[in-house]
Amino acid sequence: MDINAHTQFCGVIGNPVEHSLSPAIHNAAFQKLGLNFVYLAFRVEAIGDAIKGLRALGNFRGASVTIPHKVAAVPFLDAIEPTARHIGAINTIVAVGETLTGYNTDAIGALRALREGGVALKGQHVVILGSGGAARAIAFSLGAEAGIGRLTILGIDSQERTTLAQDLQSKTGMAVRESPLDEGTLREILPDTHVLIHCTPMGMSPNVHKTSVPAALLHAGLTVMDIVYNPRSTQLLKDANAVGCRVIPGLEMFLHQASAQFELWTNQAAPTDVMRAVLESRLP
Ligand SMILES: NC(=O)c1ccc[n+]([C@@H]2O[C@H](COP(=O)([O-])OP(=O)(O)OC[C@H]3O[C@@H](n4cnc5c(N)ncnc54)[C@H](OP(=O)(O)O)[C@@H]3O)[C@@H](O)[C@H]2O)c1
Repeated sequence: MDINAHTQFCGVIGNPVEHSLSPAIHNAAFQKLGLNFVYLAFRVEAIGDAIKGLRALGNFRGASVTIPHKVAAVPFLDAIEPTARHIGAINTIVAVGETLTGYNTDAIGALRALREGGVALKGQHVVILGSGGAARAIAFSLGAEAGIGRLTILGIDSQERTTLAQDLQSKTGMAVRESPLDEGTLREILPDTHVLIHCTPMGMSPNVHKTSVPAALLHAGLTVMDIVYNPRSTQLLKDANAVGCRVIPGLEMFLHQASAQFELWTNQAAPTDVMRAVLESRLP
C-alpha cells in the first residue's frame, strides 16, 4: 500500500477495537480496487472530542462506529439518514468536506444478507429474537423496506422489548407483537413462522454450544438467520441445517454492512468476494 500526501483515511471508532476485523476487510478492498485509501482502528473514550477532531481533518472520509458509541455519536453529527434516525443509533459516518452524516449499515446489511440468501420477505411472518441494538436496527430496516406480513419480537428484557415494539408502531406504522423469549412462546409461535432472525449474543464464542432455540422446535419451513458471526456456524445454524431449514450465517450480515460502508465512502461497488475471503480466513 503506497500511503502518500493524497491518501484518504477511514477507521473504526470504538472501545475496545483491538479485536476488530474491519481494518483487514476494508484495507483488502481498497487494495483490490487500487484506491488511495487507508483504514485504521481508533480506541476512543470521548466520542464527541474524537468526532470534532476528525471533522477538522481534510482527508478524513468516514468511520465505522461500534460499541459503546453507536447511540452517543448521534448528537455530534450534522445529519442522520432517516432509518438510522428512527433506530436512534448509527454505525457509519460519511464525511463530505466538514459535513458529517450518520448511517446505520447494520440495518442495510441484514436486509442485503436476506435478499442475497434468496429470502422473499413480502407477506411473511418474521420473528426477531432479542431487542438490543442489532435487533432494533434490523426491525426498523424491515419496517422501512420489506413489506413483511407480520413481525414478532421475543426478548428477555421486557422494557427494551416493549419500547422497541412501540417505537416501531409509532414510527413505521408496522403492527408488531412482542412477548418474552422463552421455550413456551417459541413452541407456540415457531410453527407459524417463516423467517427467524436471532439477534442475541447466545452461542457466541466461547459459549459455542448454547442456543436460544431448542432444536426440536425448528422445522424445515423456516429460514434461520443468526447474526452471531463468531463462530461462523453457531449451534442454532447447525440445528437448523440438520432439519433442512434455509440458513443465513451472521458472516453475511457482517460482510454486507461493511460493503455498504465501503460504497458510501468510495462511491464504488465493493469487492465482496475479497472481503468475504478475508472474513472466512479470520473467523473459526
Ligand atoms: N453479523 C453482524 O453484522 C452483527 C452486527 C451487530 C451485532 N452482531 C451480533 O449480535 C449480537 C447482539 O448484538 P447487539 O449489539 O444487539 O447487543 P446488545 O445491544 O447488547 O443486545 C443484546 C440483547 O440480547 C439480550 N441477551 C443477552 N444475553 C441473552 C441471553 N442469554 N438470552 C437471550 N437474550 C440475551 C440482551 O438483554 P439484556 O440487555 O437484558 O442483557 C439484549 O436485549 C452480538 O452477538 C453481536 O456480535 C452481529
